[in-house]
Parts: sequence; structure tokens; C-alpha cells
Amino acid sequence: MKLISHQTIWIIGASSGIGRAVAEYALARGAHVIASARNRENLEKIVNTGGSLSVVPFDLTDEAATRNAVGQVKALGIPARILVFTGTYTPAAVQEWQWADVQTTVSTNLTALLHFVHQLAQQGCLPQQLALTASVAGYVGLPNGQPYSATKAALINFCQSLRSEWQPLGVDVKVINPGFVKTPLTDKNPFPMPFLLTPEQAAAATWRGLQRSGFEVTYPKRLSWGLKLLAALPYGVYGVLARRMLSKPR
Ligand SMILES: NC(=O)c1ccc[n+]([C@@H]2O[C@H](COP(=O)([O-])OP(=O)(O)OC[C@H]3O[C@@H](n4cnc5c(N)ncnc54)[C@H](OP(=O)(O)O)[C@@H]3O)[C@@H](O)[C@H]2O)c1
Repeated sequence: MKLISHQTIWIIGASSGIGRAVAEYALARGAHVIASARNRENLEKIVNTGGSLSVVPFDLTDEAATRNAVGQVKALGIPARILVFTGTYTPAAVQEWQWADVQTTVSTNLTALLHFVHQLAQQGCLPQQLALTASVAGYVGLPNGQPYSATKAALINFCQSLRSEWQPLGVDVKVINPGFVKTPLTDKNPFPMPFLLTPEQAAAATWRGLQRSGFEVTYPKRLSWGLKLLAALPYGVYGVLARRMLSKPR
């Protein structure tokens, strides 16, 4: 049986945005970070101010590459934490969808994660903590983000069931539900983003949440509680409010 590497954190989606900021935050605190994403060059640019960095590039939507990456990382010692920040987003009303974009959204945001978790189980690579990143967009259906929001809703649901299954095995399963964070992903948004955070603020909030015992890591609280409240309203009321909130031009 492989030993857990207590200082090791495997971060997938570490080449950009929130994942990259979390990688740099962890490195500054002396962690050994294994950084993954597709773009090796960007992974090698991660700023390391105090830990050690290994780079394992792979495409999470490629089943063989994912299988190999899990094997490769396990051979180094099972990471204490595995944090996944991969994701893709193409905002468009249904009439404007490009079908290839919808398929990429579903495969990147959902299918690839289910396959990844299955590989962890198949290869006996269960960490002490596994956190998958969904979104506050998964709480309610919002205009123009339907495939994205739907994959995030499914991911929250999956994390809930995985937590119940894997808690008895000693794995602390968490879901990370960020609000708006300024990254290449949200730079596409044509509407004003309330309570927008920097990636560094998101990294600090993520890190705090990962140390706590609760299931959900979410920030900023004002937005996530507001959306949870919206989701609890009757459909007719929340539909009108959501359209008003998100249809204003930037
Ligand atoms: N920014 C926000 O406001 C916000 C809000 C709620 C939730 N989220 C979620 O937070 C996570 C991070 O988002 P972000 O804003 O930081 O986005 P980002 O800057 O676009 O980063 C996405 C990361 O995922 C990697 N990635 C994408 N497809 C991949 C694949 N097939 N295989 C391996 N890596 C892949 C990208 O790297 P490569 O291109 O190098 O592969 C990149 O490192 C996502 O799950 C997103 O949905 C973001």
C-alpha cells in the first residue's frame, strides 16, 4: 500500500485563474504542489516562493491520459489533498449555441471529473481530502449559462453523494463553490459581476475553507447566500430577478 505524502497537494487546473492562485498560495506555505492542466508552459510559470513544484501536464478529458496521470502521481506517494479547478464556460442563449461548445462544457465540467474520481478509486489513490470545484451557478438555473450551470448543479449533487460514500473510507470530500472571480473564464461575461474577487482573494478563501470540517467551501458569502435565497423562492419570482440581475450590459 502506498503511503500518503502529507505535504503533497495535487492541483488540477493549476495553469490559470483560481487553481493557479491556490497553487501559489500553497507553495508560499511550504507545500509540495503537483500542478496539472493541459498547458505545460503555463504550469512551469507558477511562482514558487517557498515549497516544491512538480508539473504533470495532461488533458482531463482524455481517458488514457487521466489514467496515466493518476498512476504517475500515485507512484510519487498518494497526495494528502487533491484539488480540482478545471472548467470551461461559453455563455450563450440556446439559439446561439455551437454544439461543439456544449459538448466540451459537459465533458470538461462533468464527465471528465466522474472519470477522474473513478480512476482514483480504481487505482487505490484515495487522498485525505478531495475537493472538486463547482460554482454558485449550480444553485439555480441562470440565463445564458445553461450548460455550464447544469454541469455545476450535477457536480454539486455528485460531491454530496461521494462525501457520504467516501467519508467512511477516511476521505474528506468537499465542493468548492466560488462566486465571481476575475479570471480568463469570467472575462467573457457580458454583464456586471457582483462582489467580484481577485484570484488571490479566492485562493485565500479557498485555503481557509479547506482547513474547516464543513462540506462546502463558498465565497463571497453575500453572493452565495443571496443565490441560495433566490433558489428557495417560487420559480416565477426567481426567474424575473435572475433575468434582471444578469441581463444588464457591462
Ligand atoms: N472565475 C469564476 O468566477 C468562477 C466562479 C465559479 C466557479 N468557477 C470554477 O472555478 C474553476 C476554475 O475557474 P477559473 O475561473 O480559474 O478558470 P480558468 O482561469 O479558465 O482556469 C481553468 C483551468 O482549468 C484547466 N483546464 C481546462 N480544461 C482542462 C482539461 N481538459 N484538462 C486539464 N485542465 C483543464 C485550464 O488549464 P489548461 O487550459 O492549461 O488546460 C486552467 O488551468 C472552474 O471549475 C470554474 O468553473 C469559477
